[in-house]
Amino acid sequence: MRAGLLLFASTVSILPLTANAWYLPGSAPRSYAPGDEVPFSVNALQPKASSLSQVKSLINYDYYDPRFNFCEPPGGPKPQSESLGSVLFGDRIYNSPVKAQMLKNATCVELCRKTIGPAYASFINARIEEEYAVNWMVDGLPVAELQVEEKTHEKFNSIGFALGKLHDERIMAYNPPALNNHFDIYIQYHKRGSQDYRVVGANIWTYTKDSLKGVKPGESPNCGTNEPLQLAHSGSTSVAYTYNVYWRESDTPWATRWDTYLRVFDPRIHWFSLVNSIVIVSFLCIMVGIILMRSVTRDISRYNAIDLNEDVQEDFGWKLVHGEVFRPPKSPMLLSVLVGSGSQLVAMAAVTLVFALLGFLSPSNRGSLATVMIVTWTIFGSIAGFMSSRVYASLGGEQWRRNIFLTATLFPTIVFAAMNLLNFFLILSSSSGAVPFGTLLALVALWFLINIPLTLIGSFVGIRHGGFQHPVKVNPIPRQIPYHHPWYLKPLPSALMAGMLSFASGFLEIFFILNSMFGTKVYYAFGFLALTFVVTALTTSTVTILFCYFHLCAEDYRWHWRAFSTGGAGAFWLFAYGLFFWATRLELPGTSNKVLFLGYLSLLSLLYFVLFGAIGFLSCYAALRRIYGHIRVD
Ligand SMILES: *[C@@H]1O[C@H](CO)[C@@H](O)[C@H](O)[C@H]1NC(C)=O
Repeated sequence: MRAGLLLFASTVSILPLTANAWYLPGSAPRSYAPGDEVPFSVNALQPKASSLSQVKSLINYDYYDPRFNFCEPPGGPKPQSESLGSVLFGDRIYNSPVKAQMLKNATCVELCRKTIGPAYASFINARIEEEYAVNWMVDGLPVAELQVEEKTHEKFNSIGFALGKLHDERIMAYNPPALNNHFDIYIQYHKRGSQDYRVVGANIWTYTKDSLKGVKPGESPNCGTNEPLQLAHSGSTSVAYTYNVYWRESDTPWATRWDTYLRVFDPRIHWFSLVNSIVIVSFLCIMVGIILMRSVTRDISRYNAIDLNEDVQEDFGWKLVHGEVFRPPKSPMLLSVLVGSGSQLVAMAAVTLVFALLGFLSPSNRGSLATVMIVTWTIFGSIAGFMSSRVYASLGGEQWRRNIFLTATLFPTIVFAAMNLLNFFLILSSSSGAVPFGTLLALVALWFLINIPLTLIGSFVGIRHGGFQHPVKVNPIPRQIPYHHPWYLKPLPSALMAGMLSFASGFLEIFFILNSMFGTKVYYAFGFLALTFVVTALTTSTVTILFCYFHLCAEDYRWHWRAFSTGGAGAFWLFAYGLFFWATRLELPGTSNKVLFLGYLSLLSLLYFVLFGAIGFLSCYAALRRIYGHIRVD
């Protein structure tokens, strides 16, 4: 008990370190008096595909990567403090040389001049062709381009702005592409008092202007020109970065300033798919329920009636295997460890979704989603330990130490190793998305100092509770399994069919999640996601129970691993769909991009497999304990 308290205290004391996303500048409202300086900051560059083009890279670049030749603030760029989740998700925030004073319009402010040689020019031009977007922030609010949604013709804020232009309004193609070096920044303010103004919006219009053409050294650049600025691949080009700032009054209060960024476009499509899934799932659940109830109760009454009658009759159906169902499967160790890790993921997903529904994880709290996931996962090591040791005990295992050790290390090691491998490729392509050493160290510390001790405690509690009670005894001699099964009851086809159903019920949200992971669309439809998660979990468990029943009726009692793989088989479809997504929506040149995509997709599928596998196994187990509890066995 005391150890538990101590651990809890240390967890809480680490929380502010990891969860300071909640208090980042921009999360707490800030007021300015007229003339006060409003801080700008910059974030990493990432590709941003328009609605017509495909995402061309998964690699982010630091804003102050010297190859871009952006203007630096006096005294050099300074990194801003960020939460663990924010760093993991690729945010790299620095201060910016751009200056704006509250209510003071400014025109043609020169940031700096650069001379860009051929090597840098070809680097920058290649990034423009990959449609990289620059990310600026004002007072913690992303600077956005105003865009119009194709279908609904609604205006919306699209975070980030293009590094350059491939063609102009008259569809004239630039060759080489033109660099955006002049910006009109429109900042919206909300007036609360004569000395109390708040920033509630920031839009940007980008221009390419060869503003140094014909300008003598020492003279100010010509912001009025309309000549495009193209970086020559031979020789060097002089670039002046300039901007205008315009302040505009707005009625939007500070509290809702993120709303224009976070519109769910066409929520009808989410509703449609959700209602669709719910209808299918309710049908499925009701059908499975009725079939199982009727046939199981009928079976039970017949079994019990047979027992009362004196005439000896052969048992049939699932009762035949009553002496076998609870016979431990092959590798009970691995199964129990996976079920433990899966339960941990289920708990993590559930709690994270609750936080998201309460509105804590809006993208305005940078990285809070990832931070909450990491913290809850760390704490729920206790659940992994508890479930793993109880399932292991139920399966008749006795190597406790190995079970505890594997629960605490196996799954985290696989994920951590995969992360490091991907990190290696990120470093290789000099992406800023590579997780810094300090963050990796922090993750290891969370794992070893909090997760492993909590797993230990969970395991000890689980061992004390012992295994689950089984309603029927296991025969000493294993039964013969009939050799012939219909094809659809063979392990692979049945798992794939069931997996298809569970994947289909969550398909649309998975599509949006992939879109936000491998595109630049922000995902925030958490309400839909939470409902979809519940629906998918329900589908998975009913489908698994149904297949489990079929298997047992076919007198095949090896249900343990089958239930797990049937539940988790949606992962196969997820992976396959990911490949389809790549083929249709991503264009990934270079080995690094391909490896990164496959790596992320495999990790995602692995998490899906373990999470829903555990749901499948546990529901099937619970169902079997119930139905075998109702028959009488001599
Ligand atoms: C600043 O520019 C905006 C937009 O052009 C204009 O509406 C506003 O009146 C200007 N403010 C000042 C103080 O000139």
